[in-house]
Amino acid sequence: MTGNPKLTAREPLTLADAAELLRAGKVCAFPTETVYGLGADATDPDAVLAIYETKGRPRFNPLIVHCADLAMAERIAQFSPLARELARFWPGPLTLVLPLKAGAGLSDIVTAGLDTVGLRVPDHPLALELIAAVGRPLAAPSANPSGRLSPTTAEQVRRGFGGRVPVLDGGPCRAGVESTILAVAGNEVVQLRAGALARETIAEAIGRPVTVAAHDAKVAAPGMLTSHYAPNARLRLDAGEPEAGEAYLAFGPTGHAAAANLSPSGDLHEAARNLFSLLHALDSTGVARIAVAPVPMTGLGEAINDRLKRAAAPR
Ligand code: TXA
Ligand code: MG
Repeated sequence: MTGNPKLTAREPLTLADAAELLRAGKVCAFPTETVYGLGADATDPDAVLAIYETKGRPRFNPLIVHCADLAMAERIAQFSPLARELARFWPGPLTLVLPLKAGAGLSDIVTAGLDTVGLRVPDHPLALELIAAVGRPLAAPSANPSGRLSPTTAEQVRRGFGGRVPVLDGGPCRAGVESTILAVAGNEVVQLRAGALARETIAEAIGRPVTVAAHDAKVAAPGMLTSHYAPNARLRLDAGEPEAGEAYLAFGPTGHAAAANLSPSGDLHEAARNLFSLLHALDSTGVARIAVAPVPMTGLGEAINDRLKRAAAPR
């Protein structure tokens, strides 16, 4: 398991320490441009199992496999010409769900037995160096206990797992929300999860529409459980103003007393970057209710609203 006191004693971890742990079949959290990932060697079944155990993650929910480059990804999955076109966003916050290649060497539990695999090349120098140093693809879900807020700092990872998980600290994550997940089936591009790369940006680049997966779609990201990203506080969304007893999370210029503001200037990139951190921070004050200002649905607003909706879902 992960509760190795020797590891914690060695913090702060160097990149070489992290690579050594991962090569030895241990889990280790590392930074990406989106959120911190809880990594393990994707070819080692016991290591991958330790990810599920550490997170308390249901076994039917497959993991994203992180590659150093397109060449590593092409050894794992089949890329159609359209998939290759989408891979132009790599390194970047885009996960492609593609047919798994026979003999790719991945542990079965990475894909939860599916015949597809979610792949991405993260746009973070430490993540890329780490994968290269390990020399193997890294399976990594977000580095939070299952169902809780995703971490965008090393400190949030440490707190989330009570210090039991070694963390390679790369400072705060630049994007702040998880990658956009796309399934490529034939000539169709379907978004399974809104994320740090806006759907409009992708559609424009490839010159074709990116549709949103229906709620009951056959291709779906099994991880899209409705209640997710749950803070301890209850959330009330699209709140024009706070009510008594609520901490107000504003967006853009506001005349109300706000506990925090996702982006005082109303910038969606800034709001995405701040989202989980501010929810973590407000939650740790022990406030019981958080009212969140409306956030527009354009661009990254799609991912922000998705995460807020899940954080507010009944549980
Ligand atoms: O930005 C991110 O994507 C972060 C960083 C660490 O890379 N990772 C992340 O992983 O958000 P996780 O496990 O929290 O979310 C992965 C999602 C889940 O909803 C899972 O169901 C979906 O990806 N997924 C993985 N493989 C899939 C597959 N073969 N088919 C459909 N969905 C898949
Ligand atoms: Mg997650």
